[in-house]
Amino acid sequence: TKDAGAQPDTAADAPQTQRLRSERWFGPADLRSFGHRSRAMQMGYDQEDWAGKPVIAILNTWSDINPCHMHFRQRSEDVKRGILEAGGFPLELPAISLSENFMKPTTMLYRNMLAMEAEELLRAYPVDGAVLMGGCDKTTPGLILGATSMEIPSIYVPAGPMLRGNWHGKTLGSGADSWKYWDELRAGKITPEDWAGVEVGIARSAGTCMTMGTASTMTAIAEAIGLSLPGASSIPAVDSNHIRMAKSSGRRIVEMVREDLKPSKIQTKEAFLNAIAVAMAMGCSTNAIIHVIAMARRAAVDIGLDDFDRASRVVPVIANVRPTGQTYLMEDFYYAGGIAALMNRISGFLTLSCLTVTGKTVGENIEKAEVYNDDVIRPLDKPMFTGKDGGALTVLRGNLAPDGCVMKPACCDPKFHKHSGPALVFDDYPSMKKAIEDENLDVTPDHVLVLRNAGPLGGPGMPEWGMLPIPKKLVKQGVRDMLRLSDARMSGTSYGACVLHVAPESYVGGPLALLKTGDLISIDVEKRSISMEVPDEELERRRAAWVAPKPRYERGYGWMAAHHMRQANEGCDFDFLQTDFGSPVSEPVI
Ligand code: FES
Ligand code: MG
Repeated sequence: TKDAGAQPDTAADAPQTQRLRSERWFGPADLRSFGHRSRAMQMGYDQEDWAGKPVIAILNTWSDINPCHMHFRQRSEDVKRGILEAGGFPLELPAISLSENFMKPTTMLYRNMLAMEAEELLRAYPVDGAVLMGGCDKTTPGLILGATSMEIPSIYVPAGPMLRGNWHGKTLGSGADSWKYWDELRAGKITPEDWAGVEVGIARSAGTCMTMGTASTMTAIAEAIGLSLPGASSIPAVDSNHIRMAKSSGRRIVEMVREDLKPSKIQTKEAFLNAIAVAMAMGCSTNAIIHVIAMARRAAVDIGLDDFDRASRVVPVIANVRPTGQTYLMEDFYYAGGIAALMNRISGFLTLSCLTVTGKTVGENIEKAEVYNDDVIRPLDKPMFTGKDGGALTVLRGNLAPDGCVMKPACCDPKFHKHSGPALVFDDYPSMKKAIEDENLDVTPDHVLVLRNAGPLGGPGMPEWGMLPIPKKLVKQGVRDMLRLSDARMSGTSYGACVLHVAPESYVGGPLALLKTGDLISIDVEKRSISMEVPDEELERRRAAWVAPKPRYERGYGWMAAHHMRQANEGCDFDFLQTDFGSPVSEPVI
């Protein structure tokens, strides 16, 4: 071994190939490195296992309470096999598992915690490159945010969607069919036994939600940016192609370290715009907006709400995958050619010269990808939905949301694209939930259901409460969609006329805080507007009388989040994690 000392690297010091970061731990002939080597030997490794080899961290978000990642114990072994085959040294480093279903009040509160953990694991340990293993909703942006700030070669291994659900021979989709059959149960159209059958059949294998929810949206976005192997994000979790993809990702990251292929070479503005175009064509989850803005900002790329609105006007939705599509699920999407085929089809909207983890361009990666089923991945001239109809995601502004809010016009009753109705306002989730079940509630199908104090700081963490349930009284009358408005988010598997992410949020005194039950709200998707018909003088009077709600957390992580999370239109990152906050963090002293 060569004594590199604990001195900072200099170009003169470096051999022909890039000096490995991990050599600072393992290389020097000093007391500290003696400790690192003897402790590696304690684990059964020899000098030849690490000397001169890229050390690859596998950030594994496996957990006993995350069904979407339950195959990750095995997959990390598959990744290790690839790393070893390519001459690397794998180190599995577990990171917090954000399990969408079980974590309360919301995984969104903890996305930035995972981002911090990922960044600091990579910084504090002897790591030259990283395999990021995630998939369940916020794990994708969480891991990528951290790796981006750390700026070491990284490749993303998506968990892959679970198999289609099945009940009495009917296909069931994650999330979407829970909401649907819940309403049927409330309306008395199905029996409790039927409902129990849905419960047993809706989640049948390892893997993420198999509708086009936030998981499938974000893994597709990671791939479109160029952070995963081509086609990786569409492979079902339990397909043996998924094992091979995991192994290949392990092999590839070792080469990426040797090539010094860092995230900044991949995460350019064009790469993010490609991801937005892909998201639109997929009919993506509304959550994409928040995460992509946060990820872009970490990469020092200027992306905002208007980039999404612009893309939604021109890129048609061609993936016929529920909930935006009508029929299919991710398993069908994979058999139809998957994301690479979809990208090939919309290549006219993409910058094909963007570099990816393969070391090749997007164009080279997708060149040969074919669509095998034109009903699942539609031709451009037979889309599911176009910009003329409002697009996949629409950004609305007005006196209710000066900094914007978002909606999915593609998955609601089109009559709500232009609508006026009186507000029915709830200040918190429990009182809303109680009122909605009251069959004497004073509500009509024209009402606009409003929930506030559910934003980034007010939630805190912006829970997925934005798909407010239809009042029981109306469900029984056959009503299945209503206009709903909140500063919350909604699940990517949700649907309906839900206007979300109102910014600034009510908790910080955004105009939503001033709304009262009975005020008229008007929406016009074509004009991209949303407003409350209340005179300015009256709003001023209400503002003077407004009292800020009590904070939910007085200490701990919740307190920190409620003080540092940015607004929805800024990506909900913590202010102090953003790339432009303070000077860059230097390498640790060893
Ligand atoms: Fe994990 Fe939906 S609950 S992806
Ligand atoms: Mg979700």
